[in-house]
Amino acid sequence: PKHLPLKGKKVVVSAGPTRERIDPVRFLTNFSSGKMGYAMAAAAAKLGAQTILVSGPVSIDPPKGVQVVPVESAEEMLQAILKEYDTADIVVKTAAVADYRPKETFSRKMKKQPGDSSIELERTTDILLTLGERKQHQLLIGFAAETNDVIKYAKGKLEKKNADYIVANDVSKTDRGFGTDRNTVTLVGNNDYQVNFSQLPKEELALKLFETILKRQGLWN
Ligand code: PMT
Repeated sequence: PKHLPLKGKKVVVSAGPTRERIDPVRFLTNFSSGKMGYAMAAAAAKLGAQTILVSGPVSIDPPKGVQVVPVESAEEMLQAILKEYDTADIVVKTAAVADYRPKETFSRKMKKQPGDSSIELERTTDILLTLGERKQHQLLIGFAAETNDVIKYAKGKLEKKNADYIVANDVSKTDRGFGTDRNTVTLVGNNDYQVNFSQLPKEELALKLFETILKRQGLWN
């Protein structure tokens, strides 16, 4: 872009999976590669924003001009984002945050026992919900990964989490969503606002999402 609509703005992006530890050698996680969130951070920086990328464990390189805050668990991600929240203008929650963590993390490696075993889980804090409840001036953009009723659930999350936009990601097919280089999403906003983006490289999609949102907000100057 020739102009820098996000100049002077602070954008916080979360990306990647979280890890919830079971014991020193085992954890619960998901298939997020960080690509979509890193592309969102790269786009924010290209558009002139001071960009903070709160990242779960991934194996891709951070984009240029972005400050990376590495975290592991959902709780660490929550704390890192809250630290930046009051002074943030835009928060983008692309991370695939664990909804549950082991109730207990063992300090020693769990030993095999005869027979079956189970791990008791407890809920993590919903970061997007927390941010929505504490929202002042911030523009809050969430993502939603769904395998069915994608738009219906995205609309539900928009309202329940007090977000301004939800980027609804259909993850029922293997050519989009988790781990891929391209993605297909529907941007969902208030007043039944919906725009589709089909199979774009994640870098290009990220710029298009910012452009579309900033134009609708009257911030594309
Ligand atoms: O990283 P990639 O391999 O490129 O894949 C990209 C992606 C599929 C991970 C990404 O495009 C995506 O859809 N991210 C959101 C995944 C997700 O966790 O969706 P959800 O529907 O479970 O959660 C909805 C929103 O709530 C998300 O913004 C999520 O960050 C947030 N959330 C969820 C749980 C939790 N405890 N705290 C949260 O803030």
